[in-house]
Amino acid sequence: MDFEGKKVLITGGTRGIGKCLVEELVKNGVRHIAVIARDKQNLKKLATEFQEVKFLRIAGDVADIDVLREAAARIEDKWGYLDILINNAGIISAGPLEDISDEDLYDQVAVNLTAVLLLTKYCIPLLKSSEEAAILNISSGLGLLGMPFYTVYGSTKAAVRQFSDATRRELAPHKISVTCAYPTATDTDMMQKFKEREMDSPEMVAQRSLEGLMKKELHVIFGGEKRLMENKMNFESPAKFDAQIAKNYKQWEEKSANHRAI
Ligand SMILES: NC(=O)c1ccc[n+]([C@@H]2O[C@H](COP(=O)([O-])OP(=O)(O)OC[C@H]3O[C@@H](n4cnc5c(N)ncnc54)[C@H](OP(=O)(O)O)[C@@H]3O)[C@@H](O)[C@H]2O)c1
Repeated sequence: MDFEGKKVLITGGTRGIGKCLVEELVKNGVRHIAVIARDKQNLKKLATEFQEVKFLRIAGDVADIDVLREAAARIEDKWGYLDILINNAGIISAGPLEDISDEDLYDQVAVNLTAVLLLTKYCIPLLKSSEEAAILNISSGLGLLGMPFYTVYGSTKAAVRQFSDATRRELAPHKISVTCAYPTATDTDMMQKFKEREMDSPEMVAQRSLEGLMKKELHVIFGGEKRLMENKMNFESPAKFDAQIAKNYKQWEEKSANHRAI
């Protein structure tokens, strides 16, 4: 897929991986980008930073169904079709399941999962009107490996993986490709708590995810060979993987404490 001249909708394109996705799209010749995010100032900033781009700014929460409907309606009015949908916005609240507030539980499901399902649903007619359409979903390494203290977040991200497989198969006759990316620790606001740790750069994650989209790869998995081995062990011998996690249980508990970016 060639990105030149494509019309793109991205959620959470104002910070972190999403902003780097915008930058990478612009480098590749995209000039029409619709962005959904809550912070109006950050949305405005995009227009000054990327002056060659005509932005459609949709200020609002992806957990609000009206915001998603408005996004699809405005794209239909302005462009009449959509080439690329990027479901990127995400939030996290970790900790023992019994301690996670009901609000944080609901919000993670609403932002990380329900919004992805609804926005994709609203965009399908627009994507069908494109000559060459694609969807990029940003899941997480924790969507492939169920980790303690990331029960809710991991569940939403695993559902995004399943949704990607299912929609890819459902939309295949309409020539809409679906790529799902699984970043591991990436240096963004979401990982502020782990600033001292070595992490992937959001630029690299954005670049590699878009390369996956361009080449119509089904899954873009980060974390190198070690992560691939862990995924294999988790799938083929989950009890063996359980034993590994049990060895570092305390470490996981401590690391995940107060990891919250909502
Ligand atoms: N960073 C990592 O280590 C990592 C690892 C694996 C997967 N991921 C996934 O990668 C994606 C991007 O993460 P990131 O690290 O780049 O996050 P980030 O730096 O916290 O940025 C999140 C972006 O999403 C927007 N957003 C958040 N909640 C929103 C809401 N309710 N409605 C609309 N927009 C919302 C934010 O803008 P506003 O705040 O203005 O709304 C911001 O633009 C997420 O899906 C995340 O789960 C990240």
